[in-house]
Amino acid sequence: MTDNAKLIVDGKERSFGIVQGTKGERAIDLAGLREGGGLLTLDEGLGNTASCLSRITYINGEKGVLLYRGYPIEELAGKSSFVETAYLLIHGELPTRSELSVFSNRLNDSSLIHEDMRHFFVAFPKYAHPMGILATMVASLSTFYPVPDHLDPEAEEQFMANLISQVRTIAAFSYKKSIGEPTVYPSIKLRYVENFLNMMFSSPVKDYRQDPDIVRAVELFLILHADHEQNCSTSTVRLVGSSMANIYSVISAGISALWGPRHGGANQEVIQMLEHILATGTDPKTFIDRAKSRNARERLMGFGHRVYKSFDPRARILKQAYHQLLKKLKTADPLFEIAMQIEELALKDAYFIERNLYPNVDFYSGLILKAVGIPADMFTVLFAIGRVPGWLAHWREMVHAKEFRIARPRQIYIGPSERHYEPINSRGLKKCP
Ligand code: ACO
Repeated sequence: MTDNAKLIVDGKERSFGIVQGTKGERAIDLAGLREGGGLLTLDEGLGNTASCLSRITYINGEKGVLLYRGYPIEELAGKSSFVETAYLLIHGELPTRSELSVFSNRLNDSSLIHEDMRHFFVAFPKYAHPMGILATMVASLSTFYPVPDHLDPEAEEQFMANLISQVRTIAAFSYKKSIGEPTVYPSIKLRYVENFLNMMFSSPVKDYRQDPDIVRAVELFLILHADHEQNCSTSTVRLVGSSMANIYSVISAGISALWGPRHGGANQEVIQMLEHILATGTDPKTFIDRAKSRNARERLMGFGHRVYKSFDPRARILKQAYHQLLKKLKTADPLFEIAMQIEELALKDAYFIERNLYPNVDFYSGLILKAVGIPADMFTVLFAIGRVPGWLAHWREMVHAKEFRIARPRQIYIGPSERHYEPINSRGLKKCP
């Protein structure tokens, strides 16, 4: 196996190191390419660019493998809790009993947001999307919980706990605002997921009865969304974090990136697509044919992935869990039938086969959230709650790395060459001869 790549650049041979990862992934280290030759690398959409070295998450897109810190996602989904998985991602190892208890207690102690922040919710319009509220509120946490210039481990643990815990409180408060009910405070007596469900669904006049199957479904959802290496939002977190912006603004930027329909926003769009098919009686086949047109807005939501060229393992786990949940809740959902029809049709269709387009995590995640009573516009918010530990783990890995530089990609300029300013009166004359 070579550990160098030879490139002929302008007739001269140059040698570049090859970096190899734990699982055999290889990359040519082209960082020095510009020196002495002026050449840049061009990779629009960054599909072929490794932007960092990372020890957090491994994906094999061809085989449908996902590991957090080396542990298969299937094992964590079956055996771990969201809080334990968050600890693993951030600290690199599974916690001992006492480490987990310290971590959980800190999350519980950090779950209230400053009381003055509750006034902010009043000012948002009733129809505000909860992702817009979440991004705004998380950015504003920095004004209530300033981050010290010099990070020490204790301060770092505290603001990470604030983010993991308060993001859940903000999410539930924004839902209460949207339905015109008073906010329900977090409770020290409840575990992470139970606390969230209680803040969402109890009210001063109504207790919320916790159902272990529902709690487990939400726990599973959060574990499966906790990290996914250098996706759009995590790359955003690293990019914004590299300027040494405060961590609350960094996570708020990640939330904004996640909101887009090509990324985390797809889970809401999938349900809307299925509901549209159900309401209009559209033949799913017609819908798939429409998605094959080159109109970018008509894609089959919940299908396709930059890295997975086979089944997304998270989609497989969620589909099975959803099936079991419906059985336990003794209920059925016509949307599930439509989803399965679409999946079957798409997986047999040459367009999808040729492009390796399989269901991604968003295809079944909305269905599971719908079954536990979460409204569609909160789906991406739940994704964000799950992803906060992953974002924090990547931010932490980056700022503590030996080599830590601001992320500043280059470009190839293709605009007009130098030209000269024309007074406004003479500009139109040229355009209309
Ligand atoms: N429906 C129809 N066609 C698709 C779809 C889809 N869902 N996804 C990709 N394609 C087609 C593209 O049109 C393109 O076709 P072409 O080669 O004829 O031009 C080809 O497949 C490759 O697609 P790209 O857009 O180049 O793939 P990319 O890796 O850039 O995008 C993405 C990945 C954004 C996820 C894309 O598959 C997509 O838009 N899917 C639908 C939205 C979605 O489900 N997003 C959630 C992703 S998972 C997550 O972020 C948590």
